Amino acid sequence: MTTTATSLLQFNNVSLGYGDFTVLKDISIDVKQGQVVALMGGSGSGKTTLLRAATGQIFAQKGTVSVFNQDLASLTAKQLQFMRQRMGVLFQQGALFTDLNVFENVAFPLREHAKKSETEITEIVLSKLEAVGLRAAAHLRISEISGGMARRVALARAIVLEPELLLYDEPFAGLDPISLGITAQLIRDLTDRLNCASIIITHDVPESFKIADQVYIVGQGKLITGGTPEQLTDSTDPYVRQFLHGQPDGPIAFNYPETPAFEQWLEQRKP
Ligand SMILES: Nc1ncnc2c1ncn2[C@@H]1O[C@H](COP(=O)(O)OP(=O)(O)O)[C@@H](O)[C@H]1O
Ligand SMILES: [Mg+2]
Repeated sequence: MTTTATSLLQFNNVSLGYGDFTVLKDISIDVKQGQVVALMGGSGSGKTTLLRAATGQIFAQKGTVSVFNQDLASLTAKQLQFMRQRMGVLFQQGALFTDLNVFENVAFPLREHAKKSETEITEIVLSKLEAVGLRAAAHLRISEISGGMARRVALARAIVLEPELLLYDEPFAGLDPISLGITAQLIRDLTDRLNCASIIITHDVPESFKIADQVYIVGQGKLITGGTPEQLTDSTDPYVRQFLHGQPDGPIAFNYPETPAFEQWLEQRKP
C-alpha cells in the first residue's frame, strides 16, 4: 500500500457526541482507497458513533469529517444524500426484508436509486450474489437461509451500487468461526476487487488482524492507538496489550462509565 493513495475518509481532530455529552475527543483517522481498516474498542466506547459521523447522521462537535475530500458539515441535505449513495453501509442490525427473497433484497437499492432495466437488474444482482458465493440461493426466502448466509446477502446488498467506501458495524457478530473467516476474507476480496475502502467495527482481534491494513483502538474517550497489525502486536502499551489479549485486569474498566445522562436520570429517581 503506497501512502499516495487517495484519502476516502478523514477525521481531523474530531470530537463526537450527543447533545452536551462528548463520547470521543481529538480523533484523527485517515482511510485510503484499497484499505481495510479495523475499528476496535470496548462496548460503549463510541465505535458506532464514529460510523454515524462518517455517514453524516451526526456531525462533529469539533474538527472536520471529510468523505471523498468534502467536509460533511458543508454539504446540503441533497449533496449528503448523493454522497451516501457512494457509500455502502452494513449496520449492526443489518436487517434484511424477510418478506422478500434473496434476489429482491439485493435488488432493493438498485430499484430505489438506479434507473435500470429488469435485464440489467438481473445481471447486476446475480453478479453480486456470485461475488458472495450465493448466486444459486437467489430464489430462497430469508427464512430459508442460515445466519452466515444472511450476512453475505447483506454484504451483496451493500455492494450492489458499487460503493467507493464500505462501512460495516460488527459484521462478524454471532457468526460461527467458519462463517466468520469466510466473511472476513470476503470483505478483503471485495475491497480489492472494487478498489474501494472498507471500515469494519469488530471485536475479533485475530480475524481483523488477518485482513486489515490499519487498526485503530478507541477507549477512555479517545483514540488509544492506530497502526498496522504488526505495529499493534509489538505494542508495549498496557491498554493495547489488555485489549488484544482480552485480559480482565488492566486499564480497561469493567464498569460502564457514568455519563451526564446517567447522573440526570439518577437525580430524577431520587424521592
Ligand atoms: N443516540 C444516542 N443518544 C445519546 N447517547 C448515545 C446515542 N447513541 C449512543 N450513545 C452513547 O454514546 C456512547 C457510545 O455509543 P456507541 O457509539 O454505540 O458505542 P459502541 O458502538 O462502541 O458500543 C455510549 O455511552 C452510548 O450510550
Ligand atoms: Mg456499536
